[in-house]
Amino acid sequence: MTPGASAGATPSVHVPVPAWVPMVTWACLLGLVILLVSVGYRRWRRNHRPKMPDTERAIRRWVASIAARWPWDSQNLGLVLVDDTTRHRRQFWTGQALPPKTYYPHIQFQPMPNGLRAYMQTLPGVGLDQVTKMAGHLANAWGCIRVEVRQDRPGLLCLRGLLRDPLAAPWAVRPDGRPIADWSLHVGVDDEGETVFLPLSNLSGVTVAGVPGTGKTSLQRWWLCQLAPHPAVQIAVLDGKVGDPFDGDYGQLADRCFAMAGDDLARANRLLTSLYETMRARSAWLRSNRGTAQFWDAGPSEDCPLVVVVVDESHTYASAASRADREACESNIWYLTKLAKEGRSRGFLTIFVTQKQTADAIPTAIRDVCQVGLSFGVRTMDGAVAALGDDIRLYPEMAPTELIGRQWTGVAVLRRPDRAGYHRVRAPFVSEHDAGHLVSHFQHLRRIPAGGPSTNGGGE
Ligand SMILES: Nc1ncnc2c1ncn2[C@@H]1O[C@H](COP(=O)(O)OP(=O)(O)OP(=O)(O)O)[C@@H](O)[C@H]1O
Ligand SMILES: [Mg+2]
Repeated sequence: MTPGASAGATPSVHVPVPAWVPMVTWACLLGLVILLVSVGYRRWRRNHRPKMPDTERAIRRWVASIAARWPWDSQNLGLVLVDDTTRHRRQFWTGQALPPKTYYPHIQFQPMPNGLRAYMQTLPGVGLDQVTKMAGHLANAWGCIRVEVRQDRPGLLCLRGLLRDPLAAPWAVRPDGRPIADWSLHVGVDDEGETVFLPLSNLSGVTVAGVPGTGKTSLQRWWLCQLAPHPAVQIAVLDGKVGDPFDGDYGQLADRCFAMAGDDLARANRLLTSLYETMRARSAWLRSNRGTAQFWDAGPSEDCPLVVVVVDESHTYASAASRADREACESNIWYLTKLAKEGRSRGFLTIFVTQKQTADAIPTAIRDVCQVGLSFGVRTMDGAVAALGDDIRLYPEMAPTELIGRQWTGVAVLRRPDRAGYHRVRAPFVSEHDAGHLVSHFQHLRRIPAGGPSTNGGGE
């Protein structure tokens, strides 16, 4: 430009903006809005307990909300790992000390018809004990009536949250006279609605405990209804509640029992002696007829049946009221212990039913060799431990001390030899009349078991 000449209009510079810039700007804005909404929603959900769901969709939504709250719940219940190796970290640019890293356990939730199931990975210091201790708080946080915890496999826990108790309603059945299949006795259903069977093969004994009126004898009735139609089963009953066993709870089942005894210690002793002799003689019989001393290798047959001995109110035979009875009691204990210890390989299964399974009522030598323990409601944790073993203390929410009350009649906690942990089972109820009717159809199958003395030795 020459000097003195005036300046013209300033030229506008147009820098072309690439097409992706507005797109990225909008995407960022959208992302920000989504982030803010989701953070807000999470905060809101954290403080709002999910409603009790009843439909399948509602349960799924409820489980999703619990899963979203898990990092918060687990941290507040102390179910986290605070990594001590990260305690001395400092911020790179300010040099400020940083808090140690916190890890919460990975968990996968699944909706179930009665609540939820979750598989949780353990962390160092966060395992079965810690989660079990917090089960009550988890139940409160999740809105469940109960949360059960068990070890699924090493490093993995299985948690079950129950919205309603599927076992709280009674369940009556009418036995159809079908013999048991695969030598598995139907016990009942567990709280996931699955049928629980008790494999009889190689079983030495079963103990059944529970305060009066909880359904112990009714369960025996249900078991005998399944066993009675099988020609390879013979049944003996000792009913310690009555003088004449025909007057007692098993009176209607007498047609199918090859021997019975009441609370008379001397008579019971005669029956036990005869059962013991039959059992002892079995070894020789098995060896010469089957070529093995193991009964379950070939299993029960008509000529060598499974002998089921039900000892109801078993403490009657083990605790002497007077000095005169002491000798008979000691002898009874000796025979009962022998049956429990040696019966398995000779095809004898003894079921000990008692109201209290502490050592003063049933000798620990008997209790400890029975592989299966079952406990209906009991009043004290000591009673639960006697019936189910020390481990029940690790599962307080499963303890039979929780099963006191009318709605729990017929519900028992089961410890099985083939599975870890404990299972709550509702047993079906069979009326005495139905059981008697069924059993009367199979009285022709009753005979004195082979492999022993040819008398029923003391059975009435
Ligand atoms: N599975 C069940 N479901 C519902 N009710 C049941 C069940 N089992 C038993 N009952 C009810 O409880 C009552 C008592 O049952 P049962 O005689 O089996 O108790 P028990 O534990 O043997 O008592 P006790 O120790 O006094 O002999 C039964 O008459 C029946 O009304
Ligand atoms: Mg009874």
